[in-house]
Amino acid sequence: MEIKNQQYSIQGISLLDLARKYDTPVYIYDGQKILQQVAALKNAFSTVNMKIKYATKALSNISILQLMRKAGTGVDAVSIEEVKICLHAGFLPSDIMFTPNCVDFEEIKAAVDLGVMVNVDNIPMLEHFGTEYGNSVPICIRLNPHILAGGNSKISVGHIDSKFGISILQLKHVLKIVQAYELNVVGLHVHTGSDILDAEVFLKGAEILFDAAREFAHLEFLDFGGGFKVGYKEGDITTDIAEVGKKVSLAFKEFCKEYGKELEIWFEPGKFLVSECGYLLVKANVVKPTPATTFVGVDSGLNHLLRPMMYDAYHGVVNISKLDGPERVYTIVGYICETDTIAADRKLKEVKEGDILAIKNAGAYGYSMASNYNSRFRPAEVLLLDGKDHLIRRREKFEDLLRNQESINL
Ligand code: LLP
Repeated sequence: MEIKNQQYSIQGISLLDLARKYDTPVYIYDGQKILQQVAALKNAFSTVNMKIKYATKALSNISILQLMRKAGTGVDAVSIEEVKICLHAGFLPSDIMFTPNCVDFEEIKAAVDLGVMVNVDNIPMLEHFGTEYGNSVPICIRLNPHILAGGNSKISVGHIDSKFGISILQLKHVLKIVQAYELNVVGLHVHTGSDILDAEVFLKGAEILFDAAREFAHLEFLDFGGGFKVGYKEGDITTDIAEVGKKVSLAFKEFCKEYGKELEIWFEPGKFLVSECGYLLVKANVVKPTPATTFVGVDSGLNHLLRPMMYDAYHGVVNISKLDGPERVYTIVGYICETDTIAADRKLKEVKEGDILAIKNAGAYGYSMASNYNSRFRPAEVLLLDGKDHLIRRREKFEDLLRNQESINL
């Protein structure tokens, strides 16, 4: 977002014009920013055979998926529905990794039937897999590396108490099952969590993956998951992707030499690719001074952007209706019948009713975690590409709220 011709704009398109054209609340995505992030990641790993498997769950609109496909990424999907959405968007089954957690075996079978690789997350599933498929279907195994990392406890998933993956301490058991069924293990996977800052965490994950990999003869790739930290607040330290690329590539090349084969290295970023591309534009419905706080109540809330409530996440907010004039401190809240604070104690250009606010970092886990709570519609989504705006999802309507409901004659 930049100021151009006295307007907050993206790709030369005024955000206020977009708010007028599509109404609020509306999610706006900067497609060029997504392409830049893909390029930056490729560049950081240019000396190894790196594949990006975009974490679909971060933002699963099919136009975004199509943009990713055009940019040359594959995808990671966590439900059979996500697998199907990715196929619908044009990905080949071979571009898709299915990383489910705690699903039943029918869902696994459905993915296998579609020709999609499964990332096996627990020992019972590994045995089921052996019984059902033997060595006829290649698999990846998700290991829990027991690394405590990540922005907060809700998004730290690689520690010993986490429900995700097979404990690295159970590797012997895994190997027994692999041997017994002659499983065709072509990949190993770790994902330690989201908002991981330090290159050392990725190196630690690498060491654990390499140690485990020495026990498997036919690997084709090692998957390091996602989790690169992006900036939410001015001055935030973010993952130095160039440093991670340099250090991890070096270690990876050494390992490949030892393994005697040039393996692929996979990453599954969500936030890194789409967090900063997204803005949620909302309208100030009311400016409400109280003895303690001046609230700005907007036409959105935790139903559209859950992250502040769910993780105490910080999202920058800008009053894009004002370029000049005094600043005041406000607490921006939603219109939902909950204490849905979007941003507390923020300095904004003086807010008047009807002003449009842009909430930043709304690309990742924004729309994809939105709901109809309070029987509100989910917003429209608009993708900006090559200086043009494209509506990629219509705002919901009243009929959408009723669509799957049956009324019984009482
Ligand atoms: N791979 C796996 C197996 C994952 O579970 C995840 C995220 C990713 C990749 C992508 O992680 P990322 O690069 O986006 O950090 N809703 C939370 C984040 C939950 C992430 C769940 N798994 C949030 O908004 O902070």
